[in-house]
Amino acid sequence: MPGTVIVGTQWGDEGKGRFTDYLAEESTLVVRYQGGHNAGHTIVVDGEVFKIQLVPSGVLYPHVTPIIGNGVVVDPAVLLAEIDMLEAKGVSTANLRLSGNAHLIMPYHQELDRVSERYLGKNKLGTTKRGIGPAYADKAMRVGIRVQDLLDPKIFRQKLDLAIRDKNLMLTKGYNRPGLDPQAIAADYLAMVPRLEPLIDDSVHLIHSALDRGEHVLFEGAQATFLDLDQGTYPFVTSSNPVAGGVCTGAGVGPRAIERVVGVVKAYTTRVGSGPFPSELFEGDPVGDELVARGHEYGTNTGRRRRPGWLDMVMIRHAVRLNSCTDVAITKLDVLAPFEELKICVAYEGDDGTRYDHVPYHQSVIHKVRPVYETLPGWRGEIDDAKTLDDLPAEARDYVRRIEELAGVPVSFVGVGPARDQTLVLSS
Ligand code: GDP
Ligand code: IMO
Ligand code: MG
Repeated sequence: MPGTVIVGTQWGDEGKGRFTDYLAEESTLVVRYQGGHNAGHTIVVDGEVFKIQLVPSGVLYPHVTPIIGNGVVVDPAVLLAEIDMLEAKGVSTANLRLSGNAHLIMPYHQELDRVSERYLGKNKLGTTKRGIGPAYADKAMRVGIRVQDLLDPKIFRQKLDLAIRDKNLMLTKGYNRPGLDPQAIAADYLAMVPRLEPLIDDSVHLIHSALDRGEHVLFEGAQATFLDLDQGTYPFVTSSNPVAGGVCTGAGVGPRAIERVVGVVKAYTTRVGSGPFPSELFEGDPVGDELVARGHEYGTNTGRRRRPGWLDMVMIRHAVRLNSCTDVAITKLDVLAPFEELKICVAYEGDDGTRYDHVPYHQSVIHKVRPVYETLPGWRGEIDDAKTLDDLPAEARDYVRRIEELAGVPVSFVGVGPARDQTLVLSS
């Protein structure tokens, strides 16, 4: 049963969408298994740029069935707008399927996300304010409303009336905000049903039928390992499980359905929002500023400047463990072209002098560790025209091979630009 997972190994925006699109050519199904429209995946085809939040990146191939799995949280208005955007660009969304078991993001989730961030002040998480945390909280509280509930207006209204009661209490009494009107919400959501209904399906059955036929199924992660609710830098994380194990619950397959796990590694590190970042290069640092400028490191989704830093291989090694990565795909190697020397974080040092070769579990420790760097020579030249690894300068090849050594698994692809044909395929 050949299932492949694409997972981010850092704090997101590694280029998962780009590699999903690349590997989708060989797949019949591409499945999102967690997250929502907090994701922003960019794909560049023939110079045209597609920025997608909810629809799986395989949508650009007519032979692919893109599936929004049960583990995703869906804002239906965003989904419909994205379908319209894709259709307007000439991309057919006719094959798109939406799990009836996926949970809906409701207007009160977005409002609560906004006000709770405001109330946290300087302790804010820096969320995307898309309602992700509150929607998953309702799912865990068992008051979530699912896509299938839209198919029965009476049930939908009943569930909404129940769910909104404590939300309005919280908004009015806790946050001093106006409550929301369930009638108006019901009218808005039910008005979308005629367009949504044809998409709604049994995603688990579709996935297993494809696997049983021996077809290739690709699972597209959103966010990343260190934003994982359980394994990331909690509480500065998202509210779902992006790690490869999240595929099992978020798509409804067992671990044995997964054969390959590709960890996507950006050639340096970025992070959007708050939280610890050992190899961070703070605003004003010339290298950090150049990484942001050359890498266009501004959020696809919120437009925020991404925090830059050197590549942190302590994190990548941990991500390889957490996800059982079989191989890694490096992106944005081309961005490193101008630097005289390159640093790779190979260990951390705690404020008591303790050396860590793995990511320490304790929040206070991870907040204070200093990076231990290894320095490699840069190659000082553009590489975006390279077609094979051999076309790269020796220093660039050495950088790739060092990542491979430290990761402990083979590098299978190297991105030297955002386009499909800027992908170097490595044999071993
Ligand atoms: P995702 O969220 O992991 O899918 O990544 P994003 O799309 O948010 O961010 C990755 C950005 O880097 C996008 O703008 C991509 O077009 C771009 N990108 C991906 N791979 C490469 C690469 O190898 N080189 C360069 N220069 N850009 C890349
Ligand atoms: P892709 O799929 C980068 C970050 C937010 C914030 C934290 C929690 O494009 O890699 P949330 O809105 O999820 O409750 O925010 O997670 N975050 C991302 N950062 N890429 C993403 O997605 C992200 N999705 C969420 O910035 O720090
Ligand atoms: Mg992104």
